Amino acid sequence: MKSIQSNIKKAKKYLNKNCCIGVPTETVYGLAANAYIDSAVNKIFQLKKRPKTNPLIVHYININSLKKDCIINDNFIKLYKKFSPGPITYILKLRKNSRISKNVTNKGKSLAVRFPKHKILKKLLTELNYPLAAPSANISSRLSAVKASDVKEEFGSKVKFILDGGRCNIGVESTIIKLTENPKILRLGGLNISKIEKVLGRKINIDINPKNKISPGQYPLHYSPGIPLKMNVKKAKNNEAFILIKKRKITLKNYFYLSKKNNLNEAAKNLYSCLRKIKNKGYKSIVVEKISDKGMGSVINDRLVRASKY
Ligand code: TXA
Ligand code: MG
Repeated sequence: MKSIQSNIKKAKKYLNKNCCIGVPTETVYGLAANAYIDSAVNKIFQLKKRPKTNPLIVHYININSLKKDCIINDNFIKLYKKFSPGPITYILKLRKNSRISKNVTNKGKSLAVRFPKHKILKKLLTELNYPLAAPSANISSRLSAVKASDVKEEFGSKVKFILDGGRCNIGVESTIIKLTENPKILRLGGLNISKIEKVLGRKINIDINPKNKISPGQYPLHYSPGIPLKMNVKKAKNNEAFILIKKRKITLKNYFYLSKKNNLNEAAKNLYSCLRKIKNKGYKSIVVEKISDKGMGSVINDRLVRASKY
């Protein structure tokens, strides 16, 4: 407990100096900085090698702290009451007098906001008088980080401090819903869409693969393990890493289970660390068995499709 408190103090010290630090969330680790300060936000883009045109998510402790920066609406309030804090990100209209750095949104008029559930990050946010801009803590287009050591692996000593909050519980990023117009899902993620539809009382459009221009939230190349990946494969060659979800009678050295009991939540939680492990073991290619497209299965498949575009 004492060490948590002293780590939070350290995190605060770095953030107050406009540094960028690694922070835990219930979905994936974030690379965080003061969302109100241009130079702090710039450091995130530099470290991640992220195009300036791809805006960041800002993390707030609660609705009260958000109201100064964004215009809220009825759909937001319904969803906030039910699902926040938790793995859902809302796109809202920015207020004209908002203090959010223009660099967060690439001068855009909307802001992605999230209320994380991770205890340690919540504690940190309550002690700060500014929200945290925090994209996933990985080099752009690479695998997301689900442990403090993954963040270290991505950035080495370039990130001065990582607030260690253990392994992320959900293991895939938040679901993104645009609420500035008719609700629209921009990214599949930790919160199931059917739950959102229940609360809003209607079907919601899903717009995760735009045909024409790439807009924020929809960058196709993503989550890449850095080696070729093929999906829906029944059998693997000996030199290929084989990702499985259903227990087989025999287990070979190149078999990597996302879940031993075909549990899709557990599989999602293990996805990024499994891909990272395979890459670090030096495999040159990955094949994945067919994964059901239900519930978290559809999120896993979404990430694998993008990872396969390497
Ligand atoms: O679970 C998560 O959401 C994690 C944790 C750290 O909170 N964060 C995360 O951030 O996944 P990032 O930057 O890797 O993904 C944010 C996505 C990007 O695809 C970005 O294009 C989109 O959100 N986005 C940000 N602002 C947006 C906006 N105003 N309109 C539409 N999409 C936006
Ligand atoms: Mg990301």
